Amino acid sequence: MRSREDMRRRTAVVTGAATGIGAAITERLAGEGMHLVLVARDGTRLEAAAKRLHDEHGVEVSTLALDLSHQGAPSHLAAWLARAGTHVDVLVNNAGVGLLEPVAASDPARVRALVDLNAGAVAELTALLLPAMVARGRGVIVNIASTGAYTPAPYAAAYAASKAFVLSFTQALWAETRATGVRVVAVSPGPTDTAMMTRRMRGKRAPDAVADTVMAAVRGRGPAVVDGRLNRVQTFVFSRLLPASVATLIAERALRKAARGD
Ligand SMILES: NC(=O)c1ccc[n+]([C@@H]2O[C@H](COP(=O)([O-])OP(=O)(O)OC[C@H]3O[C@@H](n4cnc5c(N)ncnc54)[C@H](OP(=O)(O)O)[C@@H]3O)[C@@H](O)[C@H]2O)c1
Repeated sequence: MRSREDMRRRTAVVTGAATGIGAAITERLAGEGMHLVLVARDGTRLEAAAKRLHDEHGVEVSTLALDLSHQGAPSHLAAWLARAGTHVDVLVNNAGVGLLEPVAASDPARVRALVDLNAGAVAELTALLLPAMVARGRGVIVNIASTGAYTPAPYAAAYAASKAFVLSFTQALWAETRATGVRVVAVSPGPTDTAMMTRRMRGKRAPDAVADTVMAAVRGRGPAVVDGRLNRVQTFVFSRLLPASVATLIAERALRKAARGD
């Protein structure tokens, strides 16, 4: 999918599509002339986004309200797409939730739901839609990870671990599919100004900037891209230069106050 012509009138499925980074990505894809399938839990918000994208870009947009953390939800989505005769050319696994608190204070069911959504649904949906892409010799899968994927994050332990799964899974699939015509790539945003990132902090990036990085990643070559120069430096230092124990203790100090809501 290197050119605009490759993308025009093809179909992209985007999860977590009506808000934040997902909304910015759908805007870019619709701007390239792609038809869209928007997935998230809030059907009303999805319908409003679909109408806006159709009115502004003239592309076809359908929606499916679905909780992807539920068992069977990814296969329900794949069956729904198959019934509609939709060939998926681009899949953006973007839906995700955060949890910023000590694990000892967490509701175990919320920890499980986070892992099911951030890691489980990404893996299952990828495995469901990849074979048809490989058979056609064409397609792109973008998995939204996080800079948190590069270092364990105390007080966001399950979140960072789920994103480390996404990063590792995607990098491996990039290699598995390299000769098939299909591109699988992980994009890791750092702190981005969305509903998920309520913490007041300097240097948050705009969802539009992350969407630009996603579009560049779609057309790029490597297995993983970190959004933003500062985030790239930080992930390099934390994951390659510092011993893991030191990096984790620095992260612990940085996140302790945030987890207390200070
Ligand atoms: N913001 C950041 O600083 C940051 C940094 C690094 C990575 N990321 C990643 O970027 C992605 C997008 O997050 P965002 O920052 O744009 O936050 P956001 O605006 O809260 O977007 C999350 C999206 O996921 C959907 N979603 C949540 N739970 C779902 C579920 N169980 N089933 C289906 N859809 C669900 C939400 O829609 P509904 O509520 O309607 O379901 C929403 O559209 C996430 O994977 C996140 O981990 C964000």
